[in-house]
Amino acid sequence: MLYSIFIVVAIKIYRYSEESEKKPYVQTYNLNLKECGPMILDALIHIKNTQDPTLTFRRSCREGICGSCAMNISGSNTLACIKKTTDAIDGGSIAIYPLPHMHVVRDLVPDLTHFYQQHKSVKPWLEPSPDAPRYNGKEENRHKLDGLYECILCACCSTSCPSYWWSEGGDGGYLGPAVLLQAFRWISDSRDSIQRERLANISSDNLKIYKCHTILNCTRVCPKGLNPALAIAKMKLMLAH
Ligand code: SF4
Ligand code: SF4
Ligand code: FES
Repeated sequence: MLYSIFIVVAIKIYRYSEESEKKPYVQTYNLNLKECGPMILDALIHIKNTQDPTLTFRRSCREGICGSCAMNISGSNTLACIKKTTDAIDGGSIAIYPLPHMHVVRDLVPDLTHFYQQHKSVKPWLEPSPDAPRYNGKEENRHKLDGLYECILCACCSTSCPSYWWSEGGDGGYLGPAVLLQAFRWISDSRDSIQRERLANISSDNLKIYKCHTILNCTRVCPKGLNPALAIAKMKLMLAH
């Protein structure tokens, strides 16, 4: 005798389009989890394919590498492709919103233009001196980049940071944990020749780095297990000397 097992969950998804005059609303889709893959991204793709082709979200790699599927799932920022649907059920349903406090283009797609401009402002590339070694030289120099180079710029940390919510606007805004961790990645590179300039840049006003109040939301949510708060603390220490 064949048994078919149904696990039907209500998936509540934020809907909005800047092209429509309709106010944002939450739409509920009932989904049998046995009909799709195990991750939230599988559930979203299944809903889009079988129930609602207008549902909009970003994704690419589906294995936690590209950072494009970052969203807020059951109250916490994470990557939809590595978040198990069964782990996201809260009171019989799953709530899915775009990354918090960002301008939303459509549904689960935030506008990351300002975030990328801030990233560009820290010169996220190597500025080697002419006599710098091509490689990081000693093994210990290479290890200084561990916990930094793995950042995929998903913005889960910055958009969970209250200081970033309130102080990210304008040229002089708070850079936020993701961009500051990226800044520290280049400051920590033994081949780089502009470490002092990089530190001067992130401390050129009261907001860029000093708006971090060590609340640690960033470190708590990072889906890659990185510690942006520690990177920020280390740069503050460097600036103090
Ligand atoms: S530690 Fe700093 S960057 Fe991280 S959440 Fe708190 S204020 Fe934001
Ligand atoms: S530090 Fe973590 S949460 Fe922040 S952007 Fe990088 S990978 Fe994403
Ligand atoms: S789809 Fe690339 S990180 Fe999720």
